Amino acid sequence: MKQRLEELKEQLNYHNHRYYVLDDPVIADSQYDALLRELEHIEQAHPEWVTSDSPTQRVGAAPVSAFASVTHAVPMLSLGNAFDESELIAFDKRVADALRAEGLLGANEAVSYNAEYKFDGLAVSLRYEHGVLVRGSTRGDGYTGEDITSNVRTIASVPLRLQGDSRDWPVVLEVRGEVLMHQADFQALNQAQLRQGEKAFANPRNAAAGSLRQLDPRITAKRPLRFFAYGWGEIQMPASQEQPDLFTQATENTGVPYDSQSAMLDWLQRLGFVVDSHRAVLSGVEALMDFYQKTAEGRAALPYEIDGVVYKVDRLDFQDVLGFVARAPRFAVAHKFPAQETTTKLIGIDVQVGRTGAITPVARLEPVVVGGVTVTNATLHNEDEIRRKDVRIGDTVIVRRAGDVIPEVVAPVLDLRPEQTELYVFPTQCPVCDSAIERVEDEAIARCTGGLVCAAQRKQSLEHAVSRKALDVDGLGTKLIEQLVDADRVKNLADLFTLNELELASYPRMGAKSAANVVKALAAAKTPTLARLIYALGIRHVGEATAKALAEHFGELAALTQATEETLVQIDDVGPVVAASIAHFFAEDHNREVLARLEQVGITPQLPERQSTAVSEALAGKTFVLTGTLPTWTRDEAKSHIEQAGGKVTGSVSKKTDFVVAGTEAGSKLTRAQELGITILDEDGLKALLGS
Ligand code: IVH
Repeated sequence: MKQRLEELKEQLNYHNHRYYVLDDPVIADSQYDALLRELEHIEQAHPEWVTSDSPTQRVGAAPVSAFASVTHAVPMLSLGNAFDESELIAFDKRVADALRAEGLLGANEAVSYNAEYKFDGLAVSLRYEHGVLVRGSTRGDGYTGEDITSNVRTIASVPLRLQGDSRDWPVVLEVRGEVLMHQADFQALNQAQLRQGEKAFANPRNAAAGSLRQLDPRITAKRPLRFFAYGWGEIQMPASQEQPDLFTQATENTGVPYDSQSAMLDWLQRLGFVVDSHRAVLSGVEALMDFYQKTAEGRAALPYEIDGVVYKVDRLDFQDVLGFVARAPRFAVAHKFPAQETTTKLIGIDVQVGRTGAITPVARLEPVVVGGVTVTNATLHNEDEIRRKDVRIGDTVIVRRAGDVIPEVVAPVLDLRPEQTELYVFPTQCPVCDSAIERVEDEAIARCTGGLVCAAQRKQSLEHAVSRKALDVDGLGTKLIEQLVDADRVKNLADLFTLNELELASYPRMGAKSAANVVKALAAAKTPTLARLIYALGIRHVGEATAKALAEHFGELAALTQATEETLVQIDDVGPVVAASIAHFFAEDHNREVLARLEQVGITPQLPERQSTAVSEALAGKTFVLTGTLPTWTRDEAKSHIEQAGGKVTGSVSKKTDFVVAGTEAGSKLTRAQELGITILDEDGLKALLGS
C-alpha cells in the first residue's frame, strides 16, 4: 500500500504538471480524479503517511488571523524603468561602459540580454528545501514579506514538489516570479462576485492581490491564480552538483548551477515551473526595440496583462560585476508600456444615443494621457454601473484604456473625493429628440423610444448601412452623414441614393472630386448581396451571421418581409428574441416605406452567392462551432474554409451541431460539446475532413 501511495503521488504530480504547467494533459479529468480518490483512501487509512507535498494537500489549511512575517535571505528588489528608446540606449551604454571598464567586453562587442515579459501581477518567492515547497511569501518591502504558504499551495501551477531526479534537486531553492490572473478568469470571477452581491475587482492585478491576501486559503483555492517564474533568491546545490569554476569569487550568484539568466530559466522550467515562452536572448538596442515593438503589438491578444518587457544581462558573472544601485539591479531594466490606467477629474456626464437607441452615459474628463493617447471621454456603460461604482461628478476617477477598446471609468478614488460632489441623475428624455427613455425590466440598457424620428439614431443607422460589412460605400463618412441629416436632406437609407454630385459638392469640405467619388461609390453599392442588404437594414439582433442565414433561407427580400415569428425560429441561429425583432421590424410602416423606396431608387440585391466550388460530401449541410485558438488558422480563415466546402458555422453548441473544432484555451463550448457527445476536431482533424 505504501508503494502504491508513492506511485500515485508520482503519477498525480506528473499529470498536474502536464495539465497546469505544460497545458498538455495526457489523461482525462475523470481519470485524474479517480487516481486522486484512490490516494485519498490510502491516506485516510494511514494518516501517518500524509506528507505536505501530497497532491491531496493543496487546500485545507486552517484560516489564519494574520500573516506571519518572513525575512528574505536574498532581498526581493525592484527594477529601474526605461520609458523610451533614449532611456534604453542610456541603460545599454551604462552596462557596456561598466563591463568595458573591467575589461570584460570588447570595444565593439554588444551585451547579450535575456528579454522577458514584465507580468502585471504580484511578486512572490517560493522556497523549496530538498525539492519540497516549504514556504511562500510576498515581496513586502523587499526585505520582509508576509508568509502566504497556505495560499500559494492552492495555486495549481506551483509545484508542491520539484520535477526530475531527486538527486539533482537543490538543497535550497528560492524561486521568484509573479502571481497573476488571466483576463478571462478575471471576467468570470467578477461576474460571480456580482452575482453573489460582492464587490467586483478593478483589474486582474487587484483580483490576484486580493486573492493572495485571503486569510482563509479555501477562498484562495477558488480563485484562478497562476504563477510564472522569472528569477531566484537563495540557492544551495548538493555537493555533487556544485560547479565551483563558474565564478571566480564569492558573489550573489555563487552556488547557482548555470552561468546565464537564460540557462537558469531553462532549468526552472525543467524543475516544473511555468516560465514565459516568449523570452529571447538578444544583443544590441535595435534587437531590444524590435522585441518591445512586437510585444506591444501582440499584447492585446495575450491572455494575461503585461506592463512592459524586462531586459536582464544574460551572463550571471556580468550581473555580479554590475551589482545594484539603491534598490534595483544595474544589470536589468523594465522597458515599460505607456500606462493603461491613470486618474483624472470627472467634469460631467453626458449620454450618447446609439443606433438602436441605446443610451450610454459618457464621462467628460479633464484631458489626460492614457496608454499614449489623450482621453477626454470615457464610457460609464450604463445607469447601474454608475450606481455600483458610486461615481459622482467632481470625483477623481481611475480611467482605463486597454488596447483599442473604448476608454472606461473604472472607479472613483474615494480618498480624493471633494466635499461637494454631484450625484448624476439619469435622463428620462432623449437629449437629441426628446422622446421618452425607457428601460425594459431585467435589461441594463436604457433606450430612446424615438426610433428613426431621433436624429442620433438616424445618423448611426445610416453609418451602419454604408459600413464595410454592409453596403460598403466608400467616402461617406460620419461628418458628411451628420451634415446630410442635420440639413434634413437624408431621412433614410433610400434618400442617400438620390444624392447627386452637384449638391454634394455644396457641403462644407466636399470638393467636386470627393462628391464624384461618393456618387460613384453609391452607384456601385446598388447591387449588394441579399445578406449585406439585410445586414445594412440594421434590424436589432441581426448581425452579419444571422443576415447570411436569413438570405440563404429566404433567397429574396419579399419572402423575408412576410415571414412570421414561427417560420423564423425554424432557422438555425434564430431564437425567439431575434425572430420577434425581425417580425417587428417588417411590421413597422416606416420600415416598409423605406424598403419600397429602396426598390424605387434601384437597389436590387443579387441572389445569395451559392458556393459552386468543391462542395465536400463530408461537410455539405453540416454545422460547425469553432472555439479556442487554432494553431495556424484564424477563426475567420477556418470559417471560410468550412463555408466554401458547404458547411455552416454557428456561434453556440446545441444538439443541431455536427462538429466542434477546438483549439487551445477552448472553454465552455468544448465542455458542452463533450456533454452532448458531439464530434470534436482539432485543426488537423478539420483539415483532414476538408481534404476528404
Ligand atoms: S525581475 C532583481 N522579471 O516587476 C530583479 N520582475 O518592477 C527583480 N516583474 O517586483 C525583478 N515581470 O513583481 C523581474 N520578468 C520579470 C518580471 C518582474 C514582472 C515585476 C516584479 C518586480 C517588479 C519590479
